[in-house]
Amino acid sequence: MLLAFESSCDETSVAVVSDGVVLSNVVATQIRMHAEYGGVVPELAVREHLKNLKPVCTEALRLAGVGVDDLQAVGATRGPGLPAALAAGYAAAQGFCAATGLPLIGVNHHEGHLYSPWISGEPPRADWAGFRRNVSLIVSGGHTLLVLVEAPGKHRVLGGTLDDAAGECFDKLAKVLGLPYPGGPVLDRLAEEGNPASHVFPRPLLHEPHDDFSFSGLKTSVRYYLDRRPGLAEDVGALKDLCAAIRAAVVDTLVGKLLRAARRTGVTCVTASGGVTCNRALRRDLARECAAQGFELRLAEPRFCTDNAGMVGVVAEYRWRQGQASDAPELEVTPGWSLEEIVA
Ligand code: KG4
Ligand code: ZN
Repeated sequence: MLLAFESSCDETSVAVVSDGVVLSNVVATQIRMHAEYGGVVPELAVREHLKNLKPVCTEALRLAGVGVDDLQAVGATRGPGLPAALAAGYAAAQGFCAATGLPLIGVNHHEGHLYSPWISGEPPRADWAGFRRNVSLIVSGGHTLLVLVEAPGKHRVLGGTLDDAAGECFDKLAKVLGLPYPGGPVLDRLAEEGNPASHVFPRPLLHEPHDDFSFSGLKTSVRYYLDRRPGLAEDVGALKDLCAAIRAAVVDTLVGKLLRAARRTGVTCVTASGGVTCNRALRRDLARECAAQGFELRLAEPRFCTDNAGMVGVVAEYRWRQGQASDAPELEVTPGWSLEEIVA
């Protein structure tokens, strides 16, 4: 049984994990606090992490019904992320280990996302025996990554965003439309009642022969579109149509590029995780296209899509079972830690 810490951005989270099952997963989100600034303010994020880590940890242990004596190891996100935010959670985990003598496993945050679609559903997979080679989309406010996962711990990053992440694009466009931060979920809700064919925005790089994304051009297209239609955002029907058209452009691009990479690499399974994987159209379109093209689809459950310590815990447990827990773990966090630098 492991205790896991996550604090790479604006969520303070602690989880208890046992045999691949997440027994508790407490998340204190700072979204409301950062809303008035329109984005995450690192200094405020750190202050909140420091304030929340202890109560969140206590609550995670209480909900799981376990005591410190039941734990065998501790996992914590070591990178990538905001340097000081990472350090807050990692230092808390180090302190916990110093006090209890438990080993510490530093976890790559993106590897947590890669495993999150495998947490639920089938029987617990503490040994990851059921893990299949897959192409995975990690899509959040900070990242848009396509990754070929050959085996647990063996990754090849196929592509990423050249500018804005997909979630960032949703959030920025929502702001242009006068919607509250974070705009992704609000835009998604409005889009449900709009007509996606009301306007066709560009699908950036969709037909380019590589796996990179670019979303900043879409922002410019929407700005031009609004400039030509002053007052549109005040007309609720037109606003819903516009949200639906924007969402369709982003989702078509994500689905198209993910499945093309899957066909090219010959995998039979595709997965998706990260905050934007909560998007209803993305979930629906992926389900439809995967069924049509014969891919097994694994989507992270919404509670494991956004940043959470549950996903960090399952990776930590896997690595601990592989004997990778260290009595002398890295002392420093690694804010720029890439998936390809992970030692399998
Ligand atoms: O993974 P996450 O919690 O944090 C990081 O960015 O690392 O993802 C948050 C992002 C935000 O950009 C938010 O707008 C987006 O995920 N998001 C959504 C939806 N729910 C969250 N974007 C589109 N549709 C949604 N339903
Ligand atoms: Zn994340």
